[in-house]
Amino acid sequence: MKQTIKGNVSWIGYMDWELKKFHGEEYTITEGSSQNAYLIEEEKTVLIDTVWTPHKNEFVDNLEKEVGLKNIDFIVMNHGEADHSGALPELMKHIPDTPIYCTANAVKSIEGQYGKNNWDLRVVKTGDSVDIGNGKKLIFVEMTMLHWPDSMATYMTGDAILFSNDAFGQHYAVGGLFNDTADQCKLEYEAMKYYANILAPFSTLVSKKITEIKALNLPIDMIATSHGAIWRDKPMWIIEKYAEWAEEYQEDQLTILYDSMWEGTAAIAREISRVAARVSPNTMVRMFNCSKSDLSEMMTEVFKSKAIAVGSPTISRDIMMGVSSTIRFMKSLKFKNKRAAAFGCYGWSGESVDILKRELADAGFQVTDTNIRSMWKPNDEDLESAEELVRALLG
Ligand code: FEO
Repeated sequence: MKQTIKGNVSWIGYMDWELKKFHGEEYTITEGSSQNAYLIEEEKTVLIDTVWTPHKNEFVDNLEKEVGLKNIDFIVMNHGEADHSGALPELMKHIPDTPIYCTANAVKSIEGQYGKNNWDLRVVKTGDSVDIGNGKKLIFVEMTMLHWPDSMATYMTGDAILFSNDAFGQHYAVGGLFNDTADQCKLEYEAMKYYANILAPFSTLVSKKITEIKALNLPIDMIATSHGAIWRDKPMWIIEKYAEWAEEYQEDQLTILYDSMWEGTAAIAREISRVAARVSPNTMVRMFNCSKSDLSEMMTEVFKSKAIAVGSPTISRDIMMGVSSTIRFMKSLKFKNKRAAAFGCYGWSGESVDILKRELADAGFQVTDTNIRSMWKPNDEDLESAEELVRALLG
């Protein structure tokens, strides 16, 4: 059922309390999520986005009950990814002639996924607008690479609502819909997790886009995202957070990532954490065994960190797979301005520390010369060198 969010605008999305994974198995969801679609009922009736394919029938049925499909004057597709466009083909079976406003790239993604259907796809670009009656209009703002080439936001004048699509969202099911009805700690964490795991690679573009949005000088009373809470209480807070997160964000945090075969590398990891607590008592220290920990959570913690220490023993002249895939993911997220150090045990050939240093440098980290490379198991000298490593990272 639709729920009014402001004036003649309603939420008509899907609240997914059971969703556990997103982007295949890549993104872990612990608090549910939502696919937020919106219905504007001014002189024109407008649908903004749809929901993911598994929920298409319920979505279309809801629209029929709430507004009548034939009464929809046009659709805005802010983004073609399946979680927002998945119900579009089912909807268009009923109203095939209804115009769809989207970016040029969204035409490619929609036709690429659903074929050429002779839908009335109307290409818009930043600054284009369409009247919806009652003195109000929708203004389109391309959000290229935030986070797909086809992404767009739509601004509604009068009610001053920014339909931001993925930007400013969270994978967090908020039953009350609005940010002020959510658990504030979870909300901020989920918003950051979403940024770290999905938007971080595009931080340079985020900074530019926020500058551009601010320069438009449009009042923003509400940010209606496509996932999670709608920002109605102090909506500029999340825009300011994005501006902060986009600028090589870091907190006073050290994150230790490791895997271990026979506890030697784990012992070094534990010593690094103990030493960090002693020599830098204000620093938050987090530690994760890469093979036993949630990848999305680890990425969030690395995003917050000013330094990381990464450890693996040598196995088959290489590093352990859990550590390798963790570094690979960090590389794709293009974190900036973070120090890193390597450590690990070995019994015979002992390549792991050099491999770690090379891969961390390749992933964009500032790798310290200080490392801990321990034969068989860490001895007192190895453990004492943890202080030098910690000072190199946090000094
Ligand atoms: Fe929520 Fe890029 O899809």
